[in-house]
Amino acid sequence: MTEQQWNAYHDIRRAVLFEARGLIGYDANHPDDRRDGHFPLLLLLENTPVGAARLDLMSDQTACVRTVAIKAECQGKGHGRMLMAGLEKFASQHEVKRLLVNAARDAVGFYEALGWTVIEAGGENPVLTKELRTRPQW
Ligand SMILES: CC(C)(COP(=O)(O)OP(=O)(O)OC[C@H]1O[C@@H](n2cnc3c(N)ncnc32)[C@H](O)[C@@H]1OP(=O)(O)O)[C@@H](O)C(=O)NCCC(=O)NCCS
Repeated sequence: MTEQQWNAYHDIRRAVLFEARGLIGYDANHPDDRRDGHFPLLLLLENTPVGAARLDLMSDQTACVRTVAIKAECQGKGHGRMLMAGLEKFASQHEVKRLLVNAARDAVGFYEALGWTVIEAGGENPVLTKELRTRPQW
């Protein structure tokens, strides 16, 4: 990512996941964003950043989806679905077969609409999973 894209990535996450929830302390220098196997992703709409997420590769062809956020004024218009479709494609290209997410409670319906299944409903952040379709063997 360019410096400008890093700034957009942090701005979206800070505004949507912290400020909109009344939280402070967003860390734009968190080492997890630059760790090997961690991929910060930005959704661009005609070159304008509208959403962000991070994909963390784990073991056993599993990856964890982190900090999914669509700009407030862009929510409810299919951009989250688009972001996750791109993320799934990217994950498949990295041989990922299974995605996991620790979801915000009020975002569970979003993941379910995209074919995810709740595997741990209790706790503050329900855990959902989605198996990625394997590519056809030609
Ligand atoms: C959750 C979020 C990423 C969804 O993005 P979005 O662009 O608003 O979602 P979309 O418009 O692409 O919606 C896709 C589908 O999910 C559904 N959906 C979206 N948000 C939902 C929610 N909070 N609860 C239930 N269903 C939801 C939509 O109705 C739509 O279903 P449909 O296509 O069958 O009609 C976005 O609203 C957001 O950033 N929210 C605040 C941060 C957050 O909660 N992030 C998740 C952290 S785990």
